[in-house]
Amino acid sequence: MAEKLFVTTALPYANGPFHIGHIMEYIQADIWVRFQRMQGNQVHFVGADDAHGAPIMLKAEAEKISPQELVARIASGRPKYLQGFHISFDHWHSTDSPENVALSQDIYRRLKAAGLIYSKPVEQFYDPVKRMFLADRYIKGECPNCHSKDQYGDACEVCSTVYAPTDLIEPYSVLTGAKPVLKTSDHLFFRLSDPKCVDFLNGWTTTPGRLQPQVANKAREWLSGPGENPGDQALGDWDISRDAPYFGIPIPDAPGKYFYVWLDAPIGYLASLQSYFASGKARANGEPRSFEEFLAAPDTRQVHFIGKDIIYFHTLFWPAMLKFAGPPYKVPDNVYVHGFITVSGEKMSKSRGTGISPLRYLDIGMNPEWLRYYIAAKLNANVEDLDFNPDDFIARVNSDLVGKYVNIASRAANFITRHFDGALAYAGDIDALRRQAGELAQQVRESYATREFGRAMREIMAYADRINQEFDARQPWVLAKDPARRAELQDICSRTLYGFKLLSVLLAPVLPDVAAHVARELFGLDRPFRWSDAGEPPQRVNPYQHLMTRVDPKQLDALFDADSPVGGKPAAAKDAAAAAATISIDEFKRLDLRVARIVAAEQVTGADKLLKLTLDLGTETRTVFAGIKSAYDPATLTGRLTVMVANLAPRKMKFGVSEGMVLAASNESGGPYLLSPDSGAAPGMRVS
Ligand code: MSP
Ligand code: ZN
Repeated sequence: MAEKLFVTTALPYANGPFHIGHIMEYIQADIWVRFQRMQGNQVHFVGADDAHGAPIMLKAEAEKISPQELVARIASGRPKYLQGFHISFDHWHSTDSPENVALSQDIYRRLKAAGLIYSKPVEQFYDPVKRMFLADRYIKGECPNCHSKDQYGDACEVCSTVYAPTDLIEPYSVLTGAKPVLKTSDHLFFRLSDPKCVDFLNGWTTTPGRLQPQVANKAREWLSGPGENPGDQALGDWDISRDAPYFGIPIPDAPGKYFYVWLDAPIGYLASLQSYFASGKARANGEPRSFEEFLAAPDTRQVHFIGKDIIYFHTLFWPAMLKFAGPPYKVPDNVYVHGFITVSGEKMSKSRGTGISPLRYLDIGMNPEWLRYYIAAKLNANVEDLDFNPDDFIARVNSDLVGKYVNIASRAANFITRHFDGALAYAGDIDALRRQAGELAQQVRESYATREFGRAMREIMAYADRINQEFDARQPWVLAKDPARRAELQDICSRTLYGFKLLSVLLAPVLPDVAAHVARELFGLDRPFRWSDAGEPPQRVNPYQHLMTRVDPKQLDALFDADSPVGGKPAAAKDAAAAAATISIDEFKRLDLRVARIVAAEQVTGADKLLKLTLDLGTETRTVFAGIKSAYDPATLTGRLTVMVANLAPRKMKFGVSEGMVLAASNESGGPYLLSPDSGAAPGMRVS
C-alpha cells in the first residue's frame, strides 16, 4: 500500500545564504524523497526559512533594514541553489508567516491548558545602552581561570573552562561595549521535567525503528537524569520566552514577551505544510484531504531530516510539544540525523564560513549530479561526518560514475544505432537477466529505504563492473566485423543496454537529470522512470546523446580558488572605470574598514601570488591571504599598519581560510601598493 509521507529538512537560519552543509542535508533528504516517489508513495516534502531570533534582528539593524527585508532578501536567493542542485521541495515557506504565528500561539495555548507552562523570574545580564538582555554570545570578558581577554560568556576558547557569564572578569557587551548589569525579568517555561513528559519521551525515543541507535542513546542519557559527571543535569525545564526587543512571535497574554526562536522554528514545518495545502499543491500531488485531516491521520508518516547538532530540540522538545498540544498535532514518526560535512578534513564553522561555496560550484559550471553522486557514495545511515576530498571526488566521479556507468551506454548504443537501426534483440531467453535485475533492484531498494546510500552506490557500481566485463569479454568490436555474427553482436549490446537501463532506474534518485534524459531520449519513454521499470528489457534505443562529462581537476582548483585572493583580484586592482557605479552612503557604511597591524607576513608554499598575513585588529587577530607577493618582501611588512575590510565573509582557499582583505592600489603600470594610515592611527580603528 502506498505510504503518505510528510518530509522536512531543518529550517536554515535566514541570516545568510546556504552553505555546503545545508546542501548536503538537502541532497540526502532529496535522494530519499525521490526514491519514495519512485516507489509510488505520496510524498509532501517541505522546507522554510527560520527567520526569527536575535542574530537576524541585529544583522538587519546593522544593515539599517527591517528584519523582514533581510529575510526576504535571503529567501529570494534560495531557488537558485535548490533548483541548481535538483532539490525537489514541494514547497518553501518562512517561520515569519501568519500560519506560523497562528500555529505557535495555538500550540502554546494548548500546552498552557495542559498545565505545562509556568512563569519564573530569571536574572540575566542586560545591556543598559542597547536596552536589551544579552545572550551569552553577546557578552565577553576576561576568563576567570586563565585570564585570557575577550572570551565569550559561556566558555573560554583558550583554556576551555565552562562558566556563567557572571563569572567573567570585567564583562562587556559585544554590541555596545557597555558594562552589562544584572536585571531580573519573568520568563515562561515549558515543564519538560513533568513526569508525564518524561514518561512520554521515554516511550517515544525508544520506539523501535524511530531513531538511529546512536540518537536513541543520546536521548536516553538526557532523559535518565543526573549522571556521574559534574556537568550532568536532570532534564531541565525549557525557557521559551524572550523579552523585547526580539524578532519573533508575540506570546499571547504576555505583553513584551516573544517565543524563543527554537519554539516556533519546528512549528515552521507545520506552517510550511499548511501553506502548501492552502496553495492547492497538496491536492495536485494526490492529497484531497485538508491540512488538519492529513496531519492527524494515523497513516501519515512524519519524517524530519536534521544534523547532529540539533538532536536535543528534535527528540525532546519537539515531540513533547506536539504530544501535549494534542490532535490534530501528531508526534514525529522518524527523526533521521546526519553528521557534518568537512572539507579536506577541516571542520567548517558557522563564524569562519564554509569550505566550499555551493553557489560558486554552480557558477563555474560544475555538474550538480557529480556532487549528488559523491555525497550519496559517502553517506550511510549512521551519524557520521563525511569529508569532501577533492582527489577522492575526482576519482569517484570520473572512474565510477562516468567510467563505469555513463560509458557503457555510449559503447553499446553506438553499435545498435550503426548496425541495427536502434532495434534490440536478445538471443535465447533472458530469464536469468530478469532474475538478476529483480534481485539487484530489491537489494538497492532496501539500501535506499534505510538511507544506506553508500551501500546502494556500491551495489550499483558492482553491477556496472559486471556489465562492462561481460561486454568486453564478448568483444563486440570483433563481432561487428563479421557479418555471420550479427545476432551475437545485437545480443550482447542489447543485454548491456538492459543493464544500463536497470542502472539508470536505480540511480534515478541520485541522478534525476541524467535518468530523465536516459528515459526520454535514449529509451523514448514519455515519462520519468519508475522503480518498476528496473526489470523491463528495452526493445529499442535511440542514438546515444552525450550524458555527462568528466570532472576537470582545474574545476576543483577554481572551486577552491587556489591562488587568487578573495574577490578574484586585490580590490584596488580592479579597473577604476569599471567600478564606478554610484552607491549610497548607507551602502558604503556596510563596509567595516579597520586599521590593522601586520604582525606576521609569510610565504605560502605552492602559491605564486599570495602572502599569508597575520593582522592584529586590536581585539582580535585575523589571517588574510593577500595577492601582494610580487611587490613585497614579507620581512619588510612586519610591524606596519594597513587597512583591511573586516566584515568580508571568510573564504576558504587552498592554503587556509582568509578572514578579510587588505587594501592596495594598482593599475596596468604598477602595484599593488598597500595603503597605510597616517601616524597616530591604531589597530582596530574604524576607517570611514
Ligand atoms: N535554524 C536551525 C534549525 C531549525 S529546525 C526547526 C538551524 N539552522 S542552521 O542553518 O544552522 O542549520 C540547518 C541544518 O544544517 C541543520 O540540520 C544543521 O545540522 C545542518 N548543518 C549545518 N552545518 C552542517 C555541516 N557542516 N554539515 C552538514 N550539515 C550541517 O540549526
Ligand atoms: Zn581561560
